[in-house]
Amino acid sequence: MGRSSRIKSFYKLDIDEKLKVVKDFASLSDEEILMLKTGKPDMESVERMVENVIGVIGMPFGIATNFLVNGKDYLVPMVTEESSVIAAASNGAKMVRAKGGFTTSSTGSFMAVQIQVDNTSDPESASREIIKQKQELLEMANTQSTTLPKLNAGAKDIKVDIVNGWYGPMVIVRLIVDVCDAMGANVVNTMGEFIAYKIEDLTGGKVFLRVVDNYAIERLARAECIVDKQVLGGEEVVDAMLRGYSCAYHDQHRATGHNKGVMNGIMGVVLATGNDTRAVESAFHSYAARDGRYRALPVWSKNDEGDLTGFLEMPAPVGTIGGMTKHHPVARIALKILGVESADELGQILAAVGLASKLAAERALASEGIQHGHMKLHATNIASMAGAQGDEINVVAQTMIEKGKVSLSLAKELLEKERNQCRK
Ligand code: MEV
Repeated sequence: MGRSSRIKSFYKLDIDEKLKVVKDFASLSDEEILMLKTGKPDMESVERMVENVIGVIGMPFGIATNFLVNGKDYLVPMVTEESSVIAAASNGAKMVRAKGGFTTSSTGSFMAVQIQVDNTSDPESASREIIKQKQELLEMANTQSTTLPKLNAGAKDIKVDIVNGWYGPMVIVRLIVDVCDAMGANVVNTMGEFIAYKIEDLTGGKVFLRVVDNYAIERLARAECIVDKQVLGGEEVVDAMLRGYSCAYHDQHRATGHNKGVMNGIMGVVLATGNDTRAVESAFHSYAARDGRYRALPVWSKNDEGDLTGFLEMPAPVGTIGGMTKHHPVARIALKILGVESADELGQILAAVGLASKLAAERALASEGIQHGHMKLHATNIASMAGAQGDEINVVAQTMIEKGKVSLSLAKELLEKERNQCRK
């Protein structure tokens, strides 16, 4: 029997018990468990990661449970500073699991580099010339990678657009590269810089920018799911969720919050696996505005049975090799826990996690409201900020929840009362 990510009451276990479950699930070593507990690489490696290093910041690293994607179980590592994010993803995945989990797919691991060519006397014929020499340009680009061509990957296609700018028409060349399991920015930048001079020769123009195309629309990941109406609380909840979605589709203010709820989960995984959060974030939002207006990116609807269906298609510029993914010891462990075999699979998990996260948030918004779920951890944090310790934290937090008010001043007041009572 395979491993299951459906782990009942995982959240009730203490940290060591949780680690034991994850250790067994992902066959982690004792050293890896120790690394998860300390959470930081040695300072020498940290110094090599970025400039002017003076320290590291510790962020909570948690596990979202219940993910079933294409019939495979995943425990999903997430790094986030926001309470409720990991619970929401786990809860969403649990609701989806009841109808067989997520189905995902992708367009493959293609990234592009843009080459901006200005000052051509005739942009149309310059474009034609580039397309005519496509094969030669692809071969040139492929000399810049020793590994990709051997894997039958590497530079695969060239697309050309003419865009009018302030200085006249620009020929924008996009070299499209199958980057396999890398995020790919480095290799496409290298290829772009290398073929730039040839493009100047061919077009008689002047090349300005040569840089990775962050609008990674040749690297789309898709996830879809069906959620039983009963699991959500009935068809009225489905209908209320669709009302909320209509608002998020048509109103930019709401779309921004809706997509934030999707990104809550996605960013947690991107960060945990040492990937480039800004690349995923900017591509996602740009894709959400692809029809000229910023909209909610997931698509929610109701099927003939009255169940909710969800679909998310998003650019997924992430890697499982290169960059921090292999250099950061915790990111390495995150990838091991996740158990993905390719960048493509990681992208598909991101889409599933995004849907799960938003599903849980949207269900709460359509029923009891978002504060209900947020309250417990938030109240605990405030109680602790007020100085409560040990059992006091739960007493103060619980009283605030019962009163329906969570604030630092109330927490301090309750703490004082609690301590006075104990003294008597
Ligand atoms: C909170 O982190 C996420 C939500 O704001 C998302 C949303 O508004 O849909 C609840």
